[in-house]
Amino acid sequence: MKRNLLITGGAGFIGSHVVRLFVNKYPDYRIVNLDKLTYAGNLANLKDVEDKPNYRFVKADICDFEKMREVLREHEIDGIIHLAAESHVDRSIKDPFTFARTNVLGTLSLLQAAREYWESLPEGYEGKRFYHISTDEVYGALELTNPEGVEPPFSTTASSKEHHLAYGKDFFYEDTKYNPHSPYSASKASSDHFVRAFHDTYGMPTIVTNCSNNYGPYQFPEKLIPLFINNIRHGKPLPVYGKGENVRDWLYVEDHARTIDLIFHKGRVADTYNIGGFNEWKNIDLIKVLIKTVDRQLGNPEGHSLGLITYVTDRKGHDMRYAIDSTKLQKELGWEPSLQFEEGIEKTVKWYLENQEWMDHVTSGDYLRYYEDMYKEK
Ligand code: NAD
Ligand code: DAU
Repeated sequence: MKRNLLITGGAGFIGSHVVRLFVNKYPDYRIVNLDKLTYAGNLANLKDVEDKPNYRFVKADICDFEKMREVLREHEIDGIIHLAAESHVDRSIKDPFTFARTNVLGTLSLLQAAREYWESLPEGYEGKRFYHISTDEVYGALELTNPEGVEPPFSTTASSKEHHLAYGKDFFYEDTKYNPHSPYSASKASSDHFVRAFHDTYGMPTIVTNCSNNYGPYQFPEKLIPLFINNIRHGKPLPVYGKGENVRDWLYVEDHARTIDLIFHKGRVADTYNIGGFNEWKNIDLIKVLIKTVDRQLGNPEGHSLGLITYVTDRKGHDMRYAIDSTKLQKELGWEPSLQFEEGIEKTVKWYLENQEWMDHVTSGDYLRYYEDMYKEK
């Protein structure tokens, strides 16, 4: 079957993996990657697919409503996978307006353009899909209740709830009440509400998924894992916020992209799915694994870079723990994460160490100025 898909934010971290997967897996689909190319968007992430006949790139801002109308008509778009967003919590704390503009108004602009276009067609919404990619952060934060004597397993061979006993018994479920704390998560929560409202009001066939922290190649090095790998490599301090006790639930980015493919094709319209690999880690434990892995891959003696750990002022409103329950996805669509965490971290470290050129390319310009400011403040 032929389809014309618009993927927004396809030059970013997750978006580039989604574009690559769809371009390679569906030669009969036309894939239009629409991206503003902010500091976080890099066409270098897509070098391997840029010449494929079923791939197009359009540089545009999702807030530009007229442009969204034009692109949808010109490419006869029948499915949208919407990833474009401002995605970094620390930046949202410094500049909440940009997050409201892109994440809320940009999403609304795309929704409204899709509504106008699809409602103008004889078949209307039939065969159409608006898939919005969201985050677990909209649910707020869970308590960290490490029961006496329970040690983290440090191995996720079983993607099971047992793993979570070290951190707490509660999870985010699909019906957990929204309770965002940061300007980033508030803007994502708001965009999720708009997407659902377009289904409830106009009958647009929408789907929302809320995913946990992603890791893997092509992530902009302002986020914990690529930033720390790069700093370890260059012997630079590793700024651990607060006590390093916060817990995040990590999923390999290609597993997320694969899930987006599954849900885009098989997910129920108007529904919500949580995506996560039952893989919680306390930041400081994860950082120690990163140090060990980078040191080993660089041929440094064990423990060589431990001294780089530097505790710094905590992130304002820092959410303590995220933990996704993805049972619904597993039961309804037979989903399982494919990579164990150890394997994912090994591959990720290797990729960043082998792709210093990519790192140098994305860390020039705006990024450097931003980081100089961040360090001045601490
Ligand atoms: P990213 O910051 O790496 O990429 C975002 C992309 O969106 C960039 O290519 C950027 O140029 C583009 N963009 C930003 N503003 C735009 C605008 N106004 N118009 C058009 N394009 C614009 O983000 P990411 O980590 O890949 O996240 C992608 C999506 O997934 C986001 O919606 C994010 O909220 C969500 N998400 C991310 C994670 C994660 O761990 N990274 C987890 C769950 C959900
Ligand atoms: O949970 C999904 C979310 O995961 C996504 O919606 C966001 O787009 C994505 O950025 C990510 O948000 P986090 O804030 O969890 O990711 P980040 O990599 O910024 O931080 C991970 C943890 O590490 C968090 O507890 C803060 C801490 N941290 C982060 C940085 C950058 C540090 O201790 N030091 C750092 O320098």
